[in-house]
Amino acid sequence: MKKLILLGSTGSIGRQATDVVRRMRSEFKIAGLATNSNLALLKKQVAEFRPEIVSIGSEEGAKDLSAWCRKNGIKSTVVYGLDGLIEVARYRPADLVLSAVVGSIGIKPLFEALNAGTNIALANKEALVVAGDLVMAKAKKKKLAIIPVDSEHSAIFQCMKDEDSRSVEKIILTASGGPFYRSKKKHSEITVADALAHPTWDMGPKITIDSATLMNKGLEAIEAHHLFGVPLKAIEIVIHPQSIVHSMVEFKDKCVLAQLSMPDMRLPIQHALTYPRRYPSALKTLDLAKVQRLEFGRPDFGRFRCLKLALSAGETGGTMPAVMNAANESAVAAFLQGQIVFTAIPKVIEKTMASHKVQKKPDLEEILLADAAARRYAQEIIQQHSI
Ligand SMILES: NC(=O)c1ccc[n+]([C@@H]2O[C@H](COP(=O)([O-])OP(=O)(O)OC[C@H]3O[C@@H](n4cnc5c(N)ncnc54)[C@H](OP(=O)(O)O)[C@@H]3O)[C@@H](O)[C@H]2O)c1
Repeated sequence: MKKLILLGSTGSIGRQATDVVRRMRSEFKIAGLATNSNLALLKKQVAEFRPEIVSIGSEEGAKDLSAWCRKNGIKSTVVYGLDGLIEVARYRPADLVLSAVVGSIGIKPLFEALNAGTNIALANKEALVVAGDLVMAKAKKKKLAIIPVDSEHSAIFQCMKDEDSRSVEKIILTASGGPFYRSKKKHSEITVADALAHPTWDMGPKITIDSATLMNKGLEAIEAHHLFGVPLKAIEIVIHPQSIVHSMVEFKDKCVLAQLSMPDMRLPIQHALTYPRRYPSALKTLDLAKVQRLEFGRPDFGRFRCLKLALSAGETGGTMPAVMNAANESAVAAFLQGQIVFTAIPKVIEKTMASHKVQKKPDLEEILLADAAARRYAQEIIQQHSI
């Protein structure tokens, strides 16, 4: 039986992970849960899975949860805040930490889980974007696995199994294109509701906006570069609106391997949790005759400037991906709160990147400082409406 830790258990990935565990009770024991503010759902999860340790964002939340646990005879240790999140991440014994928090808040818990010697199932792509060199070096040194949960990276991981990474010619990263790939709507007229209406995936709000701007694909290209050791230039982005082909790998002999399945995150989550074994899943069978058409196209870098900015940050390297990511997190939060318009998102990122002096080989502390400075700068631009 695998002992699991779920970071971000109340989010879109976290809830789907608990679905997977619920279907495979004899395979897993949830030892730890961590979340931010959704106390009502966290209580339900604690009642169901009886974790040994559980973390919530605030001290008040922790007091409420502790009293509730006592009343219900539940013996879970309750912790809170970033320290609590880290404590759950490094809780031992555990076999696997699923990191499904959103944003660069996931960096420290990821490092602490690796330091504690636990394998990782990684959904939190921002941690790799921001500190990929350090994370991969740490995992290598500790001889630990980072198993991707992102559907594209799970597909690449499966295509690369038993292959020598030196025989890879390129990675072909597929993208649904988001809600505006074929839309005639001017980007200046896009509302929050328009941007949250993703055509094929039901995800948390931040990644849904990243999908609409195509920033998500830029983040994923950087993520793939770190996970698979392939240069960014050898990662091609292809729009595939049906989201059936989850990504492909072209080898030196021009053979292309692809992974196909219905678009349902429970498959890559289950794959990461049960790896290297495969079990029956809750997915619908892929009926290609019913799907009929699989289309592919090129992304429009002119209309989707966030994609270009992310790739350029990845090429620059050093502290620049952290700065780009921090500016994007600030801009997306401001857009969701109605503080800025959709077209201001790339402007905030571009201005913040332009203001940054890159450090080439930063350590974790320097990365976190660059992240914090970029957030402050982006906030100033947002507050002053100077975009
Ligand atoms: N959703 C998908 O289909 C999908 C696919 C591929 C990759 N990913 C990646 O997976 C990650 C999670 O995405 P999501 O869509 O599941 O996001 P989400 O629905 O917004 O969920 C985020 C989770 O993180 C928790 N969280 C946020 N800040 C936290 C903090 N400071 N301390 C502790 N917990 C915190 C949230 O808690 P509360 O609920 O209490 O706020 C929630 O449980 C992202 O990096 C995303 O890019 C997602």
